[in-house]
Amino acid sequence: MQDISIITVVGARPQFIKAAAVSRAVAAFNRTDPPVRLNECIVHTGQHYDQNMSKVFFDQLSIPRPDVNLQVGSGPHGRQTGAMLEKLEEILLAARPDWVLVYGDTNSTLAGALAAAKLHIPVAHVEAGLRSYNRRMPEEINRIVADHLSTLLLCPTPTAVDNLTKEDITKGVHNVGDVMYDSVLFNADLARKSSSIMQTLKLKPQSYYLATIHRAENTDNPARLAGILQAFRQIDAPIILPMHPRTQKTLGSAEKGIAQNVRIIEPVAYLDMLTLEAGARIILTDSGGVQKEAYWFGKPCITLRDETEWVELVHAGCNRVVGAETRAIVSAVNEFESAGAALPADRPTDLYGDGHSAEKIAARLKSEYEAVTASGKGPGSI
Ligand code: UD1
Ligand code: UDP
Repeated sequence: MQDISIITVVGARPQFIKAAAVSRAVAAFNRTDPPVRLNECIVHTGQHYDQNMSKVFFDQLSIPRPDVNLQVGSGPHGRQTGAMLEKLEEILLAARPDWVLVYGDTNSTLAGALAAAKLHIPVAHVEAGLRSYNRRMPEEINRIVADHLSTLLLCPTPTAVDNLTKEDITKGVHNVGDVMYDSVLFNADLARKSSSIMQTLKLKPQSYYLATIHRAENTDNPARLAGILQAFRQIDAPIILPMHPRTQKTLGSAEKGIAQNVRIIEPVAYLDMLTLEAGARIILTDSGGVQKEAYWFGKPCITLRDETEWVELVHAGCNRVVGAETRAIVSAVNEFESAGAALPADRPTDLYGDGHSAEKIAARLKSEYEAVTASGKGPGSI
């Protein structure tokens, strides 16, 4: 029997972290000497390209080197996505893989899904079914299109499955849990043993807050960004802020005007980020991944957005979605502080699966492919 060929399309920081878990599971699957192997080839679109936004993750997480880097770089949505599409089409036409595997909701996700679907190559979408119900977010457009083009929809939560049902997507949908949970379980101990970020920054656990800001809705809206930074000024604790290049670009020289208690650092490597999260009192963020990592490390999270896809965290009392208004942010900080900066003791601990999500994804890539071949319908008709 022939091996199953997979082209994984990644391009942005969180996708490297998610893909690392799945690539590891694919390699483990192949080590069992199965009759049919999973042959993965990684295509990096080049959406993120700074050393500390890309290479550091491949090195630290031992992700196989990308077989191809499209070097698309930054640009407006249409140009960036269009350039990816053109280059991906060429690669997919030549390789004709059995699956194209995409992650999350970036422009790289959209381009991978669209290029594959047009060539009748089945798409598997990891982190399918998430919705913010805010179509002004580029990510919402990307994930809706990717989901509607996908054959295999690998959802992280029951809510994601329900969201897809509302859009009449029920075939090929599986709740496999969240690969980022696999990643935290795999790396938390390693981070504890190997990261020296706490010493480098001279930080004591529980003595600081951690913040990240990068969403277009915040960085590209001066009033929202000012509201967030004003709130940071009013927080009575050091705030460590690993600054995303997008935010760096927006702030430019205005960075000098940021409050003294805010310590801006370069984007950090994954193990350093996990260490900073584990040591923080409270986390403030507009990141998707960081909201969940806060929960896994038992840290209260304040989400600097008007909505979240990760609604389970809000229902469990672990996350407050407060937007960008200064008073709302400060008041959420005070509320969490008055509860001892601790999460509710009775919170559920299994919101994102059992930590074996990547294995389930590898198994699905095999079983769903075989189901189609057995039905004689051929690829593209799963
Ligand atoms: C992208 C995703 C977002 C995701 C985020 C993860 C889209 C539409 N957005 O946002 O969903 O949460 O990645 O971090 O795909 N830049 C650099 N160096 C880099 C990369 C970017 O300087 O290595 C700067 C450039 O000025 C660029 C800007 O950051 O224009 C934005 O980068 P881009 O990839 O377009 O979007 P992100 O904000 O990173
Ligand atoms: N992250 C990191 N270094 C940083 C900031 C974030 O390693 O300086 C990690 C973080 O731990 C999480 C992921 O990047 O695993 C989240 O990515 P990001 O916030 O860029 O994107 P989002 O999740 O919002 O799409």
